[in-house]
Amino acid sequence: MAGNWKMYKTVQQTIEFFQRFNPLVNGVHKCDVVIFPPFVNIPAAQCAAAGTEIKVGGQDVHWGKEGAYTGEISAGMLAAAGCEWVLVGHSERRLYGFETDADVLKKTQSSLEAGLTPVVCVGEKLEERKAGKTEQILVEQFAGGLAGLTEEQFSKVVIAYEPVWAIGTGHTATPDIAADAHRLIRSEVQKRFGSDAAEAVRILYGGSVKPDNVERLMLEQDLDGALVGGASLDAESFSKIVHAA
Ligand code: PGA
Repeated sequence: MAGNWKMYKTVQQTIEFFQRFNPLVNGVHKCDVVIFPPFVNIPAAQCAAAGTEIKVGGQDVHWGKEGAYTGEISAGMLAAAGCEWVLVGHSERRLYGFETDADVLKKTQSSLEAGLTPVVCVGEKLEERKAGKTEQILVEQFAGGLAGLTEEQFSKVVIAYEPVWAIGTGHTATPDIAADAHRLIRSEVQKRFGSDAAEAVRILYGGSVKPDNVERLMLEQDLDGALVGGASLDAESFSKIVHAA
């Protein structure tokens, strides 16, 4: 269960979140719990989560090791800061950062080289769904962003299916729609990396996941977790989501 905080919370608000959140998820061992705060809050989040099983990750990463890339953060820097996880190819990065599938592949590779677990996001826009292009888009995003990995690399990747029309809109995908997309992604994995990889890969659903819809979504066999934006900002609401796992 992953919480993507996007551009929300200061250092102080980060500390306050964990003070409330830690005791609420104490004793949850059945799933990984990861928070993705803004970069500048990572050290505070690490500190505030110390002694718990909660992990902290970056919301984005550059593909290079180091260099003249003003404003960027490398995978090695995230790892050195104690992160084990990173988001790659979130639709907001694709939209505002003009990230392509080729960028997503490079970022995923650099994350893996640094020992991070990348959560690679895919998902169709509303107009693409309306035009009946969902399958085509997911196949393309998989082919461009993930199929270029080796089997060994792919075994360490987590995928997040996030239909863009469901993000921050309150319009969650129905469990059927989400499950269809997850099955499609899994079948692409099977074609490229084989049946064992298709069964093992964790595919999270993201897009308006809330405490009151998460349980139904998690009943779907092909949904292995959730990537949560808005509802991860509140300790009570995100702890309820974690418990639904
Ligand atoms: P949301 O965001 O839960 O606020 O819809 C999900 C995401 O963008 O990862």
